[in-house]
Amino acid sequence: MPDVDTQRTFQRAKDFGTPRPIPLGHLVKLSIDGREISVMQGTSLMRAAAEAGIKVPKLCATDSLDPFGSCRVCLVEVDGRKGFPASCTTQAEEGMVVRTQTDRLRQLRRNVVELYVSDHPLECVGCAANGDCELQDTAEALGVTESRYGIAGANHLDAPKDESNPYFTFDPSQCIVCYRCVRACDDIQGTFALTVDGRGFDSKITAGQMEDFMDSECVSCGACVNACPTVALTENSVIQMGLPERSVITTCAYCGVGCSFNAELKGNTVVRMTPNKDGHANEGHACIKGRFAFGYATHKDRITTPMIRENINDPWREVSWEEAIQYAADRLRALQKKYGPDSIGGITSSRCTNEETYLVQKMVRAAFGNNNVDTCARVCHSPTGYGLKTTLGESAGTQAFNSVACSDVILLMGANPTDAHPVFASRLKKRLREGARLIIADPRRIDMVASAHVKADYHLALQPGSNVAFINAMAHVIVAEGLEAKDFIAARCEHVAYTAWRTFILLEENSPEATAASTGIPPADLRAAARLFATGPNSAIYYGLGVSEHSQGSTTVMGIANLAMLTGNLGREGVGVNPLRGQNNVQGSCDMGSFPHELPGYRHVSDPAVRSLFENEWKVQLQSEPGLRIPNMFDASISGRFKGLYCQGEDVAQSDPNTQHVEHALRSLECLIVQDIFLNETARFAHVFLPGCSFLEKDGTFTNAERRISPVRKAIEPLAVYADWEVTQMLSTALGYPMNYAHPSEIMDEIARLTPTFAGVSYAKLDSLGSIQWPCNEAAPLGTPTMHIDEFVRGKGYFAITGFVPTDERTTRKYPLLLTTGRILSQYNVGAQTRRTANSEFYSEDVLEIHPFDAEERGINEGDWCGISSRAGDTVLRAVLTDRVQPGVVYTTFHFPFSGANVITTDNSDWATNCPEYKVTAVQVSRVSEQSSWQREYQAFADKQQDLLGMAQAKTKA
Ligand code: SF4
Ligand code: SF4
Ligand code: SF4
Ligand code: FES
Repeated sequence: MPDVDTQRTFQRAKDFGTPRPIPLGHLVKLSIDGREISVMQGTSLMRAAAEAGIKVPKLCATDSLDPFGSCRVCLVEVDGRKGFPASCTTQAEEGMVVRTQTDRLRQLRRNVVELYVSDHPLECVGCAANGDCELQDTAEALGVTESRYGIAGANHLDAPKDESNPYFTFDPSQCIVCYRCVRACDDIQGTFALTVDGRGFDSKITAGQMEDFMDSECVSCGACVNACPTVALTENSVIQMGLPERSVITTCAYCGVGCSFNAELKGNTVVRMTPNKDGHANEGHACIKGRFAFGYATHKDRITTPMIRENINDPWREVSWEEAIQYAADRLRALQKKYGPDSIGGITSSRCTNEETYLVQKMVRAAFGNNNVDTCARVCHSPTGYGLKTTLGESAGTQAFNSVACSDVILLMGANPTDAHPVFASRLKKRLREGARLIIADPRRIDMVASAHVKADYHLALQPGSNVAFINAMAHVIVAEGLEAKDFIAARCEHVAYTAWRTFILLEENSPEATAASTGIPPADLRAAARLFATGPNSAIYYGLGVSEHSQGSTTVMGIANLAMLTGNLGREGVGVNPLRGQNNVQGSCDMGSFPHELPGYRHVSDPAVRSLFENEWKVQLQSEPGLRIPNMFDASISGRFKGLYCQGEDVAQSDPNTQHVEHALRSLECLIVQDIFLNETARFAHVFLPGCSFLEKDGTFTNAERRISPVRKAIEPLAVYADWEVTQMLSTALGYPMNYAHPSEIMDEIARLTPTFAGVSYAKLDSLGSIQWPCNEAAPLGTPTMHIDEFVRGKGYFAITGFVPTDERTTRKYPLLLTTGRILSQYNVGAQTRRTANSEFYSEDVLEIHPFDAEERGINEGDWCGISSRAGDTVLRAVLTDRVQPGVVYTTFHFPFSGANVITTDNSDWATNCPEYKVTAVQVSRVSEQSSWQREYQAFADKQQDLLGMAQAKTKA
């Protein structure tokens, strides 16, 4: 008898064998096993059968990949055709008569499977994939229990495992060389890290050039693991814990792509996260962070007991929830009594759910009684909100991610999607492989400039700080050469504003030749890129923090919108203005009224009609003046006017610029309440610590960069008993403004009642549709994938004048280099989550990228410690010599607190929104042999705070 476990419980999502065809054709009718079936033209026989509930055995086919036709177990009989065609590679045709289950087919399939089994014995009990193996399933279905060829012949059973990757293992002895992994890496991920070495029986899968996975180009996205039909590629967590027993659909808590996942559990333990095939943002794909880096949720550093202390030099005291909440409320009310109602405020988090951010801003406005609420979007995409609202009328991107499949030309500006938005990068790379053209405007040679099967047509390596000059020059060429979309502009845009803008943009100062001194871009390249963009025909702009985090961030965003309107690239598939949002819920936290001047739905607090709507629902009177932004809160704290802060899920001590200034502000507070899952950098300055919960522990919604509202669903119980929304509710109630929501769905119902763009959103609709792109209302009950189709939200599009004002942050003899910053794939933002996972095996410290010329001038060699000093401060990082950066530019990431990347960034900020100018800091770099004084002080303070925490925990245990 086969060694098969019949007690299998694991259920994989149904696999139709081949992808759904693009619905361009008509229906065809055919007969399969005597049943009359209608399918879309272009459907494979395998898929047609699967859609009708008829299972054809398969090994090399899966519905996420185009058919390959190598294993020959899916053979069928078709009337009028010779032989036995493979059902995965044969398309359904009108009138076909197909048989999938005959004795002859059974015999042929058994023969094939016995050959596989001769090199892959069915020793299923004890195998990690027992119950999740297509070879096991196929053998069972065909009654194959052993191979008549035996296993004594040549085989691969002793092939050594590759256990180099911390998240998955490759066991070549279990490989059936179906190529699914290779095709997944090529077609879905677009990394081309896998190949098949050798031929025939000697064929074997190999990463890179016969390397370990860890040493190859592999980026650990897991697509090959998803695709593998056997145990050959398996998650280490499954090998250790066994297959999961249940699964919950939820949304990734890392970046703004917002991938949908199945959190797969055994008991109350997450075994693995697998990308949801039906997820609209990701369609079954993922990156290393969402797919594998979830272990932080149960890391030993999690703090699950509330803590309080009088002073930041005192030991923490672990207390009950009731005591902590009352203590926090009493301290806040005492401060307001002593210093006035406006002396306290709150910061919402773009990592928390819509419902949670909504509640925090509601508590600030209704219970604190002021508008001192802001969010971390202040330091990333606030210029996007301002710029797009001004020009188009809505503070959000215009497309769905799948729109890029219709783009002919893509302008990628100040974004590095392979590191920061990897699943979108895979979509983009796919479109580029199909022939779309790519223009990259970025000071650094990012991977998209040239990687496997991708090469940008133009890499315009502009100088940091010259975005506005660049975007103006693009528009100048288009207008000067008569390439503008005249009909679109006449029909869709404000005439007076356009005429004024046209005169401005045609000024010689905006020409490529005149701006070259600022941008460093050869005029001929810029002209060619502008012509390419103008003639698309479908040209799309994707941009990131390299656009927004500048002193003229809002101006550049308006320039981008101008360029899209000028070329008629708005209001349909394949075009648009697409901000790639950093954190998972940046869009949502802005939508939910986290800014001090706007109530939910971007409605100004000064509007009496808007205020009265909220006043009637919330039963309080609201202030009509905008409150303090985060930088204003810090300044007011240092000057003694701002005394208390509730900070939910943000780590401003690490993420905000000019660390010394931020630390000074935090030390100056009399009551800092931090709610987080870890004792983060900000919590070192806190008086009250309220344990937060991870995305796995709560219900709610996130809104991604496409305006897509996706469900977050509780997979495990909150480790600290309460979900974040419950904690805010308790604090508000203790402050004398009771909140009594029984479930986050009730919060969403209130949001829908008060916010026109969310009017049609409900948990029931989210559950039935999977996700919804706002606006969702009576006019668009199923949501809005593409915005501004017939007219702009503001009516006519507005061309804003975008004069280039160079930043004050200039290079000098003292600070001759420009520092710019960015992210790396395996780490995320301040690193609080990813540093507590095996992702640190991929990247364990921030480094300074410096061009070999600049390094040589300074006597710096690869790996040397470099002191980096700016007008704001000094830090020390290890040098990496690379021509990815141009001479005169240095680059670092900011994922590790000890690096102190923000010790050197300055207070400069966007003129309209105060978004910090992270991307331009004039610095000097020199070889050093010891840490900076800030780093020594940081370490001493961090050690002391760790001791104070340890004392509190030890006391409770005792
Ligand atoms: S994990 Fe992703 S990148 Fe690595 S080999 Fe597999 S598919 Fe390719
Ligand atoms: S590793 Fe898995 S997916 Fe790749 S060829 Fe082998 S069996 Fe197929
Ligand atoms: S691309 Fe972003 S949302 Fe998707 S899995 Fe990666 S980190 Fe999560
Ligand atoms: S599944 Fe059709 S040939 Fe392999």
